[in-house]
Amino acid sequence: MLNKCLFLAGGYGTRFLPATKAMPKEMLPILDKPLIQYGVEEAVAAGLTEIGIVTGRGKRAIEDYFDVNFELEHHLQGSARETKIQALTSLTDSCRIAYTRQKEMRGTGDAILTGQIIVGDSPFAVVLSDDLCLHPTKGILEQMVEVYQQHQCCVVAVEEVPAELTERYGIIDGVKQEDGTYLVHNLVEKPSSNEAPSNLGVVGRYILVPEIFDELMKTPPGYGGEIQLTDALGAIARRDKVVACRFQGIRFDCGSIEGFVAATNYCYEKLQR
Ligand code: G1P
Repeated sequence: MLNKCLFLAGGYGTRFLPATKAMPKEMLPILDKPLIQYGVEEAVAAGLTEIGIVTGRGKRAIEDYFDVNFELEHHLQGSARETKIQALTSLTDSCRIAYTRQKEMRGTGDAILTGQIIVGDSPFAVVLSDDLCLHPTKGILEQMVEVYQQHQCCVVAVEEVPAELTERYGIIDGVKQEDGTYLVHNLVEKPSSNEAPSNLGVVGRYILVPEIFDELMKTPPGYGGEIQLTDALGAIARRDKVVACRFQGIRFDCGSIEGFVAATNYCYEKLQR
């Protein structure tokens, strides 16, 4: 049964320094909601109500955020502002959240191995909440859960990226299938434009099967000297089945200033309409 979702929230957020020196990048708000809340909402909407968050030093604000705050709730009771935290309260009421801490920032692969204690031996989704994914009715994770149910294998979300940006993403080598998904033959982490096998870049949403843990244990450090999830998925794709889902909807790379500003403007304009 697929009902678990792991959030990788250990990273330093160096691209947003100094703002992220004493505050987790996952807590940066798009309008009045921190990035990670958008991700948890997307997961819960997809039926992934068992949430695991891999944090690290300096990330305690995430735990406080999803916890109750009696003093604040008491203070707001009966006031017009009470509604301000109601959506958050009903979100935390509709899921369970467990935390574990990554000791060293050794990459997405290492973060997933750290989260194994939470997800155990079942398939699970992974969210990098830097990537804000929006769809008016059917979230990206919900779309991916359907693809998983169809194919019963690892699923990655992809979208077209401009040639000069392949070096920011995991890029797939795949063949389009009749149902619109791609059968992935290989994945490469952050290739230059002339080494990129396609223009389909991986977005921070994955569904993984437990086989990934054995593969990650064998995966040597790759790009940036880190254990890359992309490399482990590449190894699985070369011998077994990995599917890529060109999702419907819009995605903002909120790990970059431009993406973050674009997401803010988009959400603000939608609010005005
Ligand atoms: C990570 C992954 C990369 C993926 C990207 C999506 O990179 O390693 O394969 O394409 O997320 O945002 P990061 O953004 O952590 O550098």
